Amino acid sequence: MVCLGNICRSPLAEGILKSKLITKDIQIDSAGTGSYHIGELPDPRSIAVANKNGINITNQRARKFVVEDFDNFDIIYVMDAYNYDAVLKLARNEADKAKVELILNAVFPNENLDVPDPYSGGDYGFKNVFNMLNEACDIIAKKII
Ligand code: 4NP
Repeated sequence: MVCLGNICRSPLAEGILKSKLITKDIQIDSAGTGSYHIGELPDPRSIAVANKNGINITNQRARKFVVEDFDNFDIIYVMDAYNYDAVLKLARNEADKAKVELILNAVFPNENLDVPDPYSGGDYGFKNVFNMLNEACDIIAKKII
C-alpha cells in the first residue's frame, strides 16, 4: 500500500486489509514515495478513524518505498495517480511495472480514480478515505482468499 507520506492513506489501507486477512499467511505492508515523515506514527486522524472501526494502526512507522519492494511483494497498490507515476519511475522492468495498481480500480475497474489526500483537510476527509479503502479492501481480500 503506497501513498505520499505513509502517514494518512496507506497506513489505513495496510491496517484495513490486515484486519480482513487476519488468519492468512500474507505479507501486507505500506510505504510512502516521499521522505517527509520517515519514522513517524500514522497521522492522529488516521489513528482515530481506524480506532473507531476497531483497527489499531499504532504499530506502524512511516517508511519510504524502495526498489526492493518490487521483489518482496506481488501487488503494489497505490493511492493516486501521482504515486502511481512515482512508483513506476522506480520500476526496473515490465514485470515490476505490472505489479502496480491503483487501489480504487478494485472497486471501479479502469476508472483510474484517486483516493484523495486528506492531509490538509478535516476529519471528514479521513472518514471518507476510510470508507473508500474499506470497500476496496473488501474486494481485494475476497480475491486473495
Ligand atoms: P498520505 O498524506 O500521502 O496519505 O500519507 C500526506 C501526508 C503528508 C503530506 C502529504 C500527504 N505532506 O505533504 O507532508
